[in-house]
Amino acid sequence: MKHLPAVAPTPSLRDSARNRTAVGVRTLFTWLLLLGIMSPVVTTWAADAGRGRQLYEQRCSACHSMDQNRVGPMHRGVFGRKVGSAAGYDYSAALAHGKIVWDERMLDAWLSDPEKLIPGQRMGYSVPNAADRADLIAYLRTESGK
Ligand code: HEC
Repeated sequence: MKHLPAVAPTPSLRDSARNRTAVGVRTLFTWLLLLGIMSPVVTTWAADAGRGRQLYEQRCSACHSMDQNRVGPMHRGVFGRKVGSAAGYDYSAALAHGKIVWDERMLDAWLSDPEKLIPGQRMGYSVPNAADRADLIAYLRTESGK
């Protein structure tokens, strides 16, 4: 029987390649883990139209609906529409003669403080919380097909 020389195993090229792959996989897992931890944070930053719908039902539907003028004007299409232009609704002079177009920034200012944005308006309601406003606006936007 022939004795093979007892050599200390030296890492072959293949081994080091495998190690590199292992490190790569580990890094990937670390990133995925971080993403998993971060994603709830990220989703609270992004506006949530589904939550906006709930808020709308709780806070706006006493006066508004999507397709009917009630105490307040109907809302479908409001995103991207000129202020005071829902057909058949009897607006205050302030809104009827308003010039702004409802986009994210304007709706945010309106919901924060309607009277500050358009003095003489008639909506006696505001939404102090910025995240609530963002979700409500996302909902109005979705329902307006924008
Ligand atoms: C107490 C009743 C009331 C509540 C509650 C209310 N609104 Fe209003 N809203 C009005 C009235 C009245 C007007 C019309 C104001 C005017 O003509 O000056 C109006 C107007 C608006 C307008 C302008 C629409 C247009 O056609 O230019 C938007 C946008 C709006 N409301 C969003 C909301 C949202 C979103 C909520 C819920 C967070 C809400 N409103 C809650 C009564 C209300």
